[in-house]
Amino acid sequence: MSAAARDTTPGSSPNAAPAGIDISANFIRHAREWEEANPSGIHYYVASAVELPFGDATFDFVSAFMSLMDIPETDLVLAEVFRALKPGGFFQFSITHPCFDTPHRESLRDAEGLTYAIEVGDYFRRIDGEVKEWLFSAAPPDVRAGLRPFRIPLFTKTLSEWLNLLISSGFVIERLEEPRPSDETAREWPGLQDAQVVACFLHVRVRKPA
Ligand SMILES: C[S@@+](CC[C@H](N)C(=O)[O-])C[C@H]1O[C@@H](n2cnc3c(N)ncnc32)[C@H](O)[C@@H]1O
Repeated sequence: MSAAARDTTPGSSPNAAPAGIDISANFIRHAREWEEANPSGIHYYVASAVELPFGDATFDFVSAFMSLMDIPETDLVLAEVFRALKPGGFFQFSITHPCFDTPHRESLRDAEGLTYAIEVGDYFRRIDGEVKEWLFSAAPPDVRAGLRPFRIPLFTKTLSEWLNLLISSGFVIERLEEPRPSDETAREWPGLQDAQVVACFLHVRVRKPA
């Protein structure tokens, strides 16, 4: 999760004071190493999104890239983001699409191996922490060969649960997007072709009222 605010302390960059957090010390170690090699003024903290280490009304905007669906306490995270945002600030995040990343999901393929439909089911079955073994299917085979599957806890929510949580946290929903790869991208990365058939991701931007 990352956030940015104008830095008004004397001698600091006139542009922004960005910060990034993750609960994983490993992620933050890599991010700090990257920052050291490619300085851009971002400060990284090991912290939980459930308890942000920032004051009230600190940031102009907050981003959470592909992480909210992995955190079960969505209501607490949204309350923390709302608190840390300045009035009028926005929160943007991406998650796996709640309508298509369902407990039952299967790609239906034609004779050439191309996905023509996605079978989804159990949409209303709440999964709360079931552990799944997983590997990036879109990663190039040579990269995948060197990796062991990793284990992640799964949590599911319906689309209306997501949207109602945002509304009850005080946010105003501003924009939704369902990105899909171009034909050219799907040809280059066949693992992404499913995302041309149904939306794999949901992008959301909400605003804290001014
Ligand atoms: C799917 S990964 C995405 C990571 C990164 N945003 C990316 O795109 O590479 C989900 C991330 O959420 C982090 N995470 C899980 N629970 C968290 C929490 N309570 N607070 C902050 N980060 C959390 C995990 O450590 C993991 O790095």
